[in-house]
Order: sequence, then structure tokens, then C-alpha cells
Amino acid sequence: MSALKRFFTVYNCDCIYGARKYLPDGSVDLIVTDPPYGINGDRLHRHYNRNEEFVIGDYVEISKEKYAGFTDHWIRQAERVLRPGGSIYIVSGYTNLADILNALRKTSLKEVNHIIWKFRFGVFTKNKYISSHYHILFYEKPGGNRTFNPESRFGFNEKDANRNSLNNTDREDVWLINREYKPGRIKNKNELPIALLTKIIQYSSNEGDLVCDFFLGGFSTAKVAIGLNRRIVGFEISRPVFIAKSAELETIRPGSMICNLRKPNVYSQKNRGRSWSEEEYSALMDGYDQLLSDGLPRYRIIALLEEQLGRGRWGIEKALKKIGRGSSRR
Ligand SMILES: C[S@@+](CC[C@H](N)C(=O)[O-])C[C@H]1O[C@@H](n2cnc3c(N)ncnc32)[C@H](O)[C@@H]1O
Repeated sequence: MSALKRFFTVYNCDCIYGARKYLPDGSVDLIVTDPPYGINGDRLHRHYNRNEEFVIGDYVEISKEKYAGFTDHWIRQAERVLRPGGSIYIVSGYTNLADILNALRKTSLKEVNHIIWKFRFGVFTKNKYISSHYHILFYEKPGGNRTFNPESRFGFNEKDANRNSLNNTDREDVWLINREYKPGRIKNKNELPIALLTKIIQYSSNEGDLVCDFFLGGFSTAKVAIGLNRRIVGFEISRPVFIAKSAELETIRPGSMICNLRKPNVYSQKNRGRSWSEEEYSALMDGYDQLLSDGLPRYRIIALLEEQLGRGRWGIEKALKKIGRGSSRR
């Protein structure tokens, strides 16, 4: 068993044994993990629809018969090591989804979202629909403040060209993120896309937090966590997989991915929920009339006033109505 320490501590051992031995109660802020699917090894390539030449062997599977018991055990450990308010995201295909849901029901963990991760180019089939999604079970441990950074990627007021909210779209529970194809590169059986892991880690943790992956595989969670300046702890049982992948962690500079992240346009809604003063009503009226005479459409005017007055859209709409600038005045 070996452990590499610094920003990361990764163990080449069984995750249930490793969690019991190395992780204290309530020590982890976020778990992101992708357990083995309990599909026989010789069928896996069909499931993933790709050439196996560059895939590391020795990926350790769990037999169908042992899957439910194994899942109960590791999920119980996950519950124990999470801090109150900590989050867990479990990626699962449909084959053993029921076992994972049953195991979760036996814990205190509470569902936050059941996310569908949709990708293109599923497994080709002629006589039924093409499977092109995974499930991501997002649960929390009750009893503390859950980290969720709703504007970490898109500000509440950011819109696309059709005036749809970019923030809402990004936070819908169906995610369209394509799998990464890495022709000619050594990879684990099922590496999660960087875009998917980045999204989870941005929304559900802060810099410096401890992220845990019970099944490191290609160490994708670990790489993204370090790149986003989080600490990582995790387990991988396969020796060849561990050796091939853990060395890559040394090459990742903590925080190096942060400069490539989209900068959300976030402004403070510092006055949201407060009652309106006379001065504010008068600033609202002057601002609205001025912008209207400048020829701006109403939705643009409201966006600018939100920013100027530190209030939300509905607050501005309501106040406009009150001062006789309801939605009929365009
Ligand atoms: C689906 S893969 C994880 C892929 C990973 N999320 C990535 O993006 O590369 C599951 C991994 O869990 C490992 N594994 C299987 N049983 C394990 C156990 N009991 N403890 C730790 N790792 C295990 C397998 O060898 C495999 O590498």
C-alpha cells in the first residue's frame, strides 16, 4: 500500500478498508465518485463503445452477486467520512442503479438532485433505443451548511442571445456533456470528462476543501480537484492502474485550471429583500425614464437597474409597477 502526500493523499488499497483506516469521521467536504459498474469485464468495451487497445487492464470489477453488499459497505463509509452538510455525487449506469439507491436509503444521506448526464454517441443498437446517459446521484449529509455556489459559473442575470438565463440552463438537472475520446492515449476503463468534474467541484466545494474519490480509476477527479486548488484523498485498488496514473498527479500545479475558468458576471444584490426608500423610488423613476428615452428595450433597462440598485429582477418589476411604470409602458 502506498500513499503520495501533499495536496493529495492517494492510497493503493480497497476503499472500504482505506476509509476505515485513514479517514476520520466528518473529515471530507465533498465526495465525487464513479464506482465499478458490476458489468463483466468482457462486456465493458461494448458498454463504452471503443477500442480497448489503450485501456489499462486490471481494472477491478465487482461481481453482480456481491454488488449490493459491497455498495452498502462503501456508501456507509462515505456517509461517515462526510462532514455534516457535505455533498456526495455518485455516477452510475442503469445496470446497478437500484443497488446504489437502496444503499443510500439505508443511510442518513438525503437526495438533493437526481441528475441525468447525457452524452452523444452512445452504444450503437439496431433494435432498441441507444443508451446515451448516466445517472448522477447528488446527496447531502444533513446537519450542516451545504456548500453550493450558484453563481460560480454564470451570474443570475446572464442571458444568452435568446434572453434565456444561462444560470438556469447550467443548473438544470439534465447535463449534456460529451465523453472524452483520447485515441492513442493510455486511459482507465471509464474516465469522467474534465468538464463534468469541473462543474461538480465548482458548484459544490470551495478552494482548500477536501474532495474524496473512493474509486480513483484514471484519477480524473483528483486531477481536476488539484487543478481547482482543492485537496484530494482517494483510493484505487488496482496496482497497475495506481502506478500508471498516480505519477501524473505530481505534474499538476495546484490551482492551474482556475485561470481557464469562465468568469461569471456576478454583481451584488445587496438590497434584495429590504424595503424601498423614497430616494430609491426616485432613482428608479429617473433611471427608468432616462434609459427608456435612450431607446433601450425594457428587459435591458431592468437588467441595468438591477445592477445599479443592487436588487433582483422581481423587486424592480414590482417597484416599477408601483411608480406607474408597469409592463405596458415599453
Ligand atoms: C469506473 S472506474 C473510476 C473511473 C474514474 N472516475 C475516472 O474518471 O477515471 C472504477 C475504478 O474503481 C477501482 N476499484 C474497484 N474496486 C475497488 C475497491 N474496492 N476500492 C478501490 N478501488 C476499486 C477499479 O479498479 C477502477 O479503476
